[in-house]
Amino acid sequence: MEQAGSIDLVQQLRAHLESLQAAGVLFVPFDASAPLQVATNLGAQTNGAIAEVVETPPEDPIEVRQRELAVLREEVAKCDKCSELFSTRTQTVFGSGPLDAEVGFVGEAPGSAEDAQGEPFVGKGGQLLGRIIAACGFTRDHVYLFNIIKCRPPANRAPSMTECGNCRDFFRRQFELVKPKFLVALGSTASRLLTGQNQPLAKLRGKVYEYRGVPLVCTHHPDEIEKDASGARKREAWEDMKLLLRTMGREVPAPKS
Ligand code: URA
Repeated sequence: MEQAGSIDLVQQLRAHLESLQAAGVLFVPFDASAPLQVATNLGAQTNGAIAEVVETPPEDPIEVRQRELAVLREEVAKCDKCSELFSTRTQTVFGSGPLDAEVGFVGEAPGSAEDAQGEPFVGKGGQLLGRIIAACGFTRDHVYLFNIIKCRPPANRAPSMTECGNCRDFFRRQFELVKPKFLVALGSTASRLLTGQNQPLAKLRGKVYEYRGVPLVCTHHPDEIEKDASGARKREAWEDMKLLLRTMGREVPAPKS
């Protein structure tokens, strides 16, 4: 309300000054000792003789979100809700990529390489994820990478439901600020939590879900693809990426031979 009133005042002042100018008035006497609170707040500048109104440019919403994301990152870095994770982590691993990314890839939890570097998906599984992303025709600049929880569980054990619950609010706020247009859940933990269905991954794959209004596809975790010598999980993951690309309305790139 107050801002709308201030904008109104600026418009009235501008109209008044323009009508004075049209009438041939070139200088407006200005009393520097008079209170100038409204004009000062609005960025008015004066040289003591002419009052020129300069409107403060509206804030870029992306910059606002970027700032809020930086605040959230700090909050996450200080979190001590899970005492075991807090006492064993090197650092928290928040996420990486641009705001409004085309696709958000959601893993489970940082591993040892991520814990050491503070970045998601920088270990062996992350390199495979990079190849999957490239095969889809994206670069890392198109995607936002983050995890359900922000601390490495000791010995890379699966995170407990309590730990996932403790991180849930961080995850939701991060998701709302980044606003990826599509989501991919990597592995069963992310797939179950984002679909809200307590089913094996095999049952969750192959369909398009919605997470908070955003289309979501579930697939294998890259670490699990790495472990599967038969290549079956790799082929299935590619089927899932094709489903993602079709859902996005993008062409499916031909497989490289
Ligand atoms: N596995 C994950 O789920 N996330 C990472 O960031 C790295 C490995």
